[in-house]
Amino acid sequence: MIRLIVNGREESWDAAPGDTLLDVLRREGWVGVKKGCGAGDCGACTVLLNGRAVNACLVLAARAEGAEVVTIEGLSRDGTLHPVQEAFLETGAVQCGYCTPGMVLSAVALLAENARPTEDEIREAVAGNLCRCTGYVKQVEAIERAAARLRGER
Ligand code: FES
Ligand code: FES
Repeated sequence: MIRLIVNGREESWDAAPGDTLLDVLRREGWVGVKKGCGAGDCGACTVLLNGRAVNACLVLAARAEGAEVVTIEGLSRDGTLHPVQEAFLETGAVQCGYCTPGMVLSAVALLAENARPTEDEIREAVAGNLCRCTGYVKQVEAIERAAARLRGER
């Protein structure tokens, strides 16, 4: 049994010793957390763990005891998308969408620490999030747009 807070809700879940955070999140219905490689290479399973972007497939569920986890489902507020999500939609940064939850969460973690990232810093922040569709140009543009909006710029 592990206890953790997921998207603001306290949860107590069964977890076998070998279960990863990815396993338990998806089992409990948080399927916005995608499973790609299962080995830390693709970033599809990225979640925020106590505010840090991590690959949920590399975190044993037991290590998340007492932690606060945010998945893509936890970003919107009262039906309003997070500015990063909005910017991804506006710029056409979503194609098949498989990488999108993880990439959005990596961007959210970056912008929480760095309100004015350079293009290089953005590219570095999402370097672990593989995208087979877009070539990354639109995502970088989206994250720049979201950063500006979060700074209160138009
Ligand atoms: S599924 Fe976790 S990094 Fe690929
Ligand atoms: S939009 Fe398809 S993998 Fe990124």
